Amino acid sequence: MEKLIINGASSLNGEVIISGAKNSSLPILAATILAEGTYNIDNIPALRDINTMFKLLENVGVTSSFQNNSAVIDNTGTNVYEAPYELVKTMRASIVLLGPLLAKKGKAKVSLPGGCAIGERPVDLHIAALEKMGANIEVKDGYIFAECPRLQGVEIVFDKVTVTGTENIMMAAALANGTTILKNAAQEPEVVDLADFLRKMGADIEGDGTNTITIKGKDKLHSANHSIMPDRIEAGTFLCAVAGVGGDITLKKCPVHTMDAIIEKLRLAGLEINVIDDETINAKMHGQIKAVDVKTAPYPAFPTDMQAQFMAVMLKSNGVSVINESIFENRFMHVPEFKRMGADITLNDSNAVVKGVPSFSGAPVMASDLRASAGLVIAALMAEHGSSVHRIYHLDRGYEGFEVKLNKLGANIERVKDNE
Ligand code: UD1
Repeated sequence: MEKLIINGASSLNGEVIISGAKNSSLPILAATILAEGTYNIDNIPALRDINTMFKLLENVGVTSSFQNNSAVIDNTGTNVYEAPYELVKTMRASIVLLGPLLAKKGKAKVSLPGGCAIGERPVDLHIAALEKMGANIEVKDGYIFAECPRLQGVEIVFDKVTVTGTENIMMAAALANGTTILKNAAQEPEVVDLADFLRKMGADIEGDGTNTITIKGKDKLHSANHSIMPDRIEAGTFLCAVAGVGGDITLKKCPVHTMDAIIEKLRLAGLEINVIDDETINAKMHGQIKAVDVKTAPYPAFPTDMQAQFMAVMLKSNGVSVINESIFENRFMHVPEFKRMGADITLNDSNAVVKGVPSFSGAPVMASDLRASAGLVIAALMAEHGSSVHRIYHLDRGYEGFEVKLNKLGANIERVKDNE
C-alpha cells in the first residue's frame, strides 16, 4: 500500500490540464459491447477503475490496447456474458455492463455490487427497468442472471434519479425492439457524453441532458470513435484546492459549461473565477474564505462527488456552513478524519455543520472513499503541519496523477510505501 505525505502549502499557482472523465469513460467503454468492430477512444484517464473495466471487457471478448490515454478496442463478438465478482467487487460501476450484455447477447450474468463506504447503493431500479423491458431476472448466489432474446421498448419512470441506471437502460434500449422513453432520467453531462457516443454508433436517442430521454431501438449498431469529455469533478477539485489554500491557477481542457453549480458556490466562498473560454478557467483566491451552505442533488445542482472537497474548503471559513448530503446516506466518512485534524464539525443526520476555524493542524488520516480522499488531501494542504493520507488506493481509482499535478502547482506531496 502507499500513502501521501503532505506538507501544508502557502499557495497554489500555475496551470493544470484536466483529464478525461472517469464517470463518462466507464459507460462508454461498456457500450463497445453493443457492436462488433474496432473503436478508437481518446482522452481516457489512466486510472485503476479504467483498468478494471478493460479486464471486465476482455472477459466478455472485447480486447483493448491502452496507451497515452487512448484505447484501440476490438469487439470480435463472443458468447461470453459474465462480469465476475472478483472484478465487480472493486468497482460498483461495473453494473453498467448489465444493459449492454443483455441487449447484445440476450443473456447477462453480472455480480451484484456490494454496498460501499458511502451507502447501501442498491441496483433495484436498473433491474426493475430491464424487467419492464421484458427481461427475466433472477438474483441468486450474489449474481444477477438476466435473460431476454430481444428487449422491448417501453416507458420507464425512474423512482429516483440514477446516473448509472439511466446509462444502463439507455444502452439496453439502443438495441431494443421499439421505442423506450425514460422519465425522471439523470441529466448529468456524462449521460450526454454516452448518448453522443451511442449516436455515433448509429443509435437514435433524443432528449439526453433533460429528464426525458427517448430511444428508438435499432436492430444493429456499429463501431465508432470518440473523445471522452473532460472531468468536471477533477476540475472542481482543483478549484476547491486553490479556494482552500490560496493562489492563482488556470485550468485547461476544463468542461466549463457543466460546472455552473460548483462555480457559483465557490464564487460565494470568495474564489475569484474568470471564465476565459469554454475550456479555460482562471481562479484566484486571496484573503478570507466565506462560509457558504451547500446541498448536494442530481445535476444541474451541486454534485455529491464534490461534497467532501467543498467541506474541506469550509473548514477555515469565516462562519458556519451547513452541508446537506441528499444523495447518499453515509457520505460523511471524511468528517471524523477532518475532526482529527482540528476541524469543528457537528453531524446531524444528513447535515454537517462546519464551523470555520482560523487554522488547524495536520494529522495522519485515512481515506475511506474516492472523493473523501481528495477532500483529505485538500485539508492537508490547508493545515499548519504535515499530514499523511493513508489508503490512497481510493484516490487512484479516480484521479490521474493527482499529487503530480498538485506538486506542479507548488504543493509538497510525496508518495511513499505504507507498511500499515
Ligand atoms: C453515479 C456516479 C457517482 C456519483 C453518483 C451520484 C458513475 C460511475 N458514478 O453513481 O460517482 O456519486 O452517480 O451522482 O457515474 N439508487 C437506488 N436504486 C438504484 C440505483 C440508485 O435506490 O437502483 C439510489 C442510490 O442509492 C442513491 C441514488 O439513487 O441514493 C443515486 O444513485 P446513482 O445515481 O445510481 O449513483 P451511481 O450511478 O451508482
